[in-house]
Amino acid sequence: MSARNSRIVGLGRHVPEQVVTNEAMTAWMDTSDEWIQQRTGIQERHYIAVDTGAADLGAIAARQALDRAGVRADDLDLVLLATLSPDFDFPASACVMSRALGIRGVPALDIKNQCSGFVYGLAIADKFIRTGRARNVLLVGAEVHSTGIDLTTRGRDVAVIFGDGAAAAVLTAESDTRRGILSTHLHAEGKYAERLWLEAATSRCQPRLTREMLEGDKPRIFPYMDGKYVFKHAVTRFPEVIHEALAANGYTTKDLDLLIPHQANLRISQMVAWGLELEERQVFNNIERYGNTTAASIPLALGEAVEQGLVHDGALVCLAAFGAGFTWASALMRW
Ligand code: ACO
Repeated sequence: MSARNSRIVGLGRHVPEQVVTNEAMTAWMDTSDEWIQQRTGIQERHYIAVDTGAADLGAIAARQALDRAGVRADDLDLVLLATLSPDFDFPASACVMSRALGIRGVPALDIKNQCSGFVYGLAIADKFIRTGRARNVLLVGAEVHSTGIDLTTRGRDVAVIFGDGAAAAVLTAESDTRRGILSTHLHAEGKYAERLWLEAATSRCQPRLTREMLEGDKPRIFPYMDGKYVFKHAVTRFPEVIHEALAANGYTTKDLDLLIPHQANLRISQMVAWGLELEERQVFNNIERYGNTTAASIPLALGEAVEQGLVHDGALVCLAAFGAGFTWASALMRW
């Protein structure tokens, strides 16, 4: 088998039409535009209307990515969908999305690694392509958070952060091994699982759903986040995994043309950039307009950066993520 890399050849994205500003959130909870912007950098996010799942958003983004890549759905060898907000408990949303795209008989897999899901997906796609098991892979990150968060004062610390959206990448085999994905680096530490989690309704609960789960100060059916703890770990793990990717390929932060961090919180990105002594032009953020879209955030940012002409041919691009699990991951690419 001849050596080959995998390379992103098309990107697509889709956010629902409805824009929810910080100001609009003050109608539902005790918060303010000033508090949200100061703590997170977020100005607005998008919410779905009704009866829309992650697979629906993902399929729209996927069509655009396939179109731009010039790859037909029939030519895909693998479909991956990273989401923590699947349409159903089962089957996988990747199957539902494949159906919407008219794809039949091609393996489809959900990746449930939260904010790191897209980079985990890149690693899987890359391995399939490098080993010759696949030529074309569709990788989508898609989330519908708005139906699963507590939009009252009780849930405000989490609710103001998250938004709905999807973005997709088509990866294909690249014979020039100096281009495309150079390496991927994945980590997880379950020790901190309960610091950022959604506990119910799940298989550990008998019965899976009770009235008690819906009530009280901290209803178990809504996500819980120990914000300060997450912040502290994020600003440590991001730099670690970025250095790991650069060092694995003999580079330093000076060589980096663009860092696309998972859009967790603008303050996290800024602290990471500051710690790595990166210049402003080396880091891309768009959280102010979308909030945190978890698995969709990195491809959503990458797509915008490419469209804005910030990723030139041959650019060294690092994608980095940190999220629930805890999980953290990076990918280094030569565009
Ligand atoms: N509006 C107004 N006030 C709020 C809100 C809100 N939306 N949310 C919380 N508050 C209040 C709290 O109730 C608290 O009030 P009190 O002092 O009367 O008790 C006060 O603000 C301060 O609360 P803290 O939790 O101490 O606020 P903090 O400064 O830590 O900011 C935040 C909270 C923004 C969540 C911060 O901890 C953070 O950025 N953590 C990182 C977590 C993160 O970004 N996660 C992203 C998702 S995970 C991921 O993608 C990796």
